[in-house]
Amino acid sequence: MKILLFGANGQVGFELARSLLPLGEVIALNRENADLTDLEKCRTTIQTIQPDVIVNAAAYTAVDKAETERDSAFLINAKAVDVFAQEAKKVGALLIHYSTDYVFDGTKDAPYLEGDLPNPLNVYGESKLAGEQAIQASGADYVILRTTWVFAARGQNFVKSILRLAAEREELGIVADQIGAPTSARFIADATAHILPQIQQARNVKIFKSDIFNLTNSGETSWFGLAEKIVELARLQNIELKNRLINPIPTSAYPTPAKRPANSRLSTAKLQQRFGLTIPTWEQSLTFCLEEIYGK
Ligand SMILES: NC(=O)c1ccc[n+]([C@@H]2O[C@H](COP(=O)([O-])OP(=O)(O)OC[C@H]3O[C@@H](n4cnc5c(N)ncnc54)[C@H](OP(=O)(O)O)[C@@H]3O)[C@@H](O)[C@H]2O)c1
Repeated sequence: MKILLFGANGQVGFELARSLLPLGEVIALNRENADLTDLEKCRTTIQTIQPDVIVNAAAYTAVDKAETERDSAFLINAKAVDVFAQEAKKVGALLIHYSTDYVFDGTKDAPYLEGDLPNPLNVYGESKLAGEQAIQASGADYVILRTTWVFAARGQNFVKSILRLAAEREELGIVADQIGAPTSARFIADATAHILPQIQQARNVKIFKSDIFNLTNSGETSWFGLAEKIVELARLQNIELKNRLINPIPTSAYPTPAKRPANSRLSTAKLQQRFGLTIPTWEQSLTFCLEEIYGK
C-alpha cells in the first residue's frame, strides 16, 4: 500500500508518519515539500505519486487568527482539501481527512453524533466544514475523522501551555464552562493505522461506504479539569512547579477573537462499533504524553 501523508510536521501528522509505517510505503510530506496553498503543485504531487491512500493531517489550525485570515483558512482547509478529493477520485485513492467538533455550535446537551446538523461558530469551523463538504461532493472514497482538543508531546497545545504557565505562576484562571474530550495525537494516529487496513479490505471487496466518524479519547472534562490533571500528573513525575492554585473561570472572563462551542463532546460509538476499537481515556493518553515529555 502506497500512503501519501500531508502535514507530517503537525501534532497528528508527526505521529502518523510513525504509526502508518507498518502498513506500507509512507511518503510523508510537510509544508516545505508540499505547501497546500500551491494547489497546482498539490495536484501534480498526487498525480506523480499515484498513492493508494492520501492522508491529510495538514490544516490551518490558528483558530483565533482565522477570524482575520479567512482567505488563508479557506484556502488550506477547504480549497486544498477539495483538490485532494478531486485527485483522490482521479487516481482511485482513498482520502483520510481530519476534521473538528468546531463544525458544531456546542448547544447540544449530549455528545454530538456524526449526523447532527453542523453550525460553526467561527471562521476556522466554517472552513473545516467547507472542506468536509468538498470531500463529500467529490465522489472520491473518503473517511473523515472528526476530533477534539488535540494534545501531543510535540508542537503547541494546551498541555504544553499549562506546563509552562504552571512553572511560572502561582495562580492560574482556566475556563471551566467548555467541556470536551482531550485527545492524544498519538491515539488518533494509532486508531487511524488500526482502521485503515479494514477500510482497504472493504474497498477491495467493493463493500466500502465513505463516511464520517468521530475519533476522540473517551471521557470528558473542562479546560479547568484538564489543567488540574496536567499539574497533578507533572507533580507525580517530580516536576517542580510554582503553581499553588487553579481557579475555574467562565468563558466570559477569557474573551477570544473566535467563539468556541461550550459542548465539544463527540460520541465515538459509531467508530467503536464499525472498527472494533477500544478507546483509551483521555487521562490514560495524557499520562503517556507527560511521560514522553519528561522522558520518564
Ligand atoms: N489541534 C486541535 O485541537 C484540533 C482539534 C480538532 C481537530 N483538529 C484537526 O486535526 C488535524 C490535525 O491537527 P493538528 O492538531 O495536528 O494541527 P497542527 O499541529 O497545527 O498541525 C497542522 C499542520 O498543518 C501544516 N500546515 C499548515 N498550513 C500549511 C500549508 N499551507 N501547507 C502545508 N502544511 C501546512 C502545519 O505546518 P507547519 O508545521 O509548517 O506549521 C502543521 O504541521 C487538522 O485537520 C485539525 O483541523 C485539531
